[in-house]
Amino acid sequence: METQPSEAMEDCKTKQEGAAGDAELAKAVMSHSFHPSVIGAETWEGYKFSDVEIRIKESTDLYGAVLWPSAMVLCHFLETNRDKYNLLDKNVIELGAGTGLVTIVSSLLGAKVTSTDLPDVMGNLQYNVMRNTKDQCKYIPLVTELIWGQDLDQRFPRATHRFDYILAADVVYAHPYLEELMDTFEHLCQENTEILWAMRFRLDPENSFVDRFRQHFHLEELYDLPSLNIKLYRGWRKDRTTKDTREAAA
Ligand SMILES: C[S@@+](CC[C@H](N)C(=O)[O-])C[C@H]1O[C@@H](n2cnc3c(N)ncnc32)[C@H](O)[C@@H]1O
Repeated sequence: METQPSEAMEDCKTKQEGAAGDAELAKAVMSHSFHPSVIGAETWEGYKFSDVEIRIKESTDLYGAVLWPSAMVLCHFLETNRDKYNLLDKNVIELGAGTGLVTIVSSLLGAKVTSTDLPDVMGNLQYNVMRNTKDQCKYIPLVTELIWGQDLDQRFPRATHRFDYILAADVVYAHPYLEELMDTFEHLCQENTEILWAMRFRLDPENSFVDRFRQHFHLEELYDLPSLNIKLYRGWRKDRTTKDTREAAA
């Protein structure tokens, strides 16, 4: 069927608005980053969130020691949606925290954060988290190992470890632990838990994780940033029986 001129114009306008929205949002996300003006003995990357200058130490030898743009997208969302997603006094766990930016920003926003990653990443993560949260946050974040799928019942029993939010930035890529990652989301996500997950799209096999995720959880797309190949999702249990408070508020 041929598209009517008005429909074609409407479609074109929507695409232009979409592209402009993407560019504007990507620019806002990236504007949180700044480069140190003085080269000192230690190299670090600078980010500004919640009016605080955050210094992140990276190292190039590990995936988790480099800051990925998905983390900035998630932090930008948390900072600019404080009214709807208020982290004050909330129990939050971050998976694959890497260099710790999301943990730091969530802590600055008043959350009680458990920041987790692989054992190899702990030293740099602990260093960045302490350096940027000490004497600045209501709660001191806890940095601890969590290898996806391992010892979850023992280390994070569901009866005592109830989280309001699970945060995850760029945890899906070509690694062999996608099933274990899904098991970890399943274990940690309880009745009233919300997952905020920034996903960087790279290759088809790992991108299909989103479809598998949808089989277990409801998924709402909060941001779509084609220029960065990143989407931000909110997820929650499919078998949740309590009313979705966000839907009720809308
Ligand atoms: C691409 S990095 C993202 C880091 C950080 N979230 C960011 O956006 O900057 C992926 C993170 O997942 C962690 N990771 C990879 N496999 C893991 C596993 N099996 N268990 C726990 N963490 C894992 C890595 O150590 C790394 O910190």
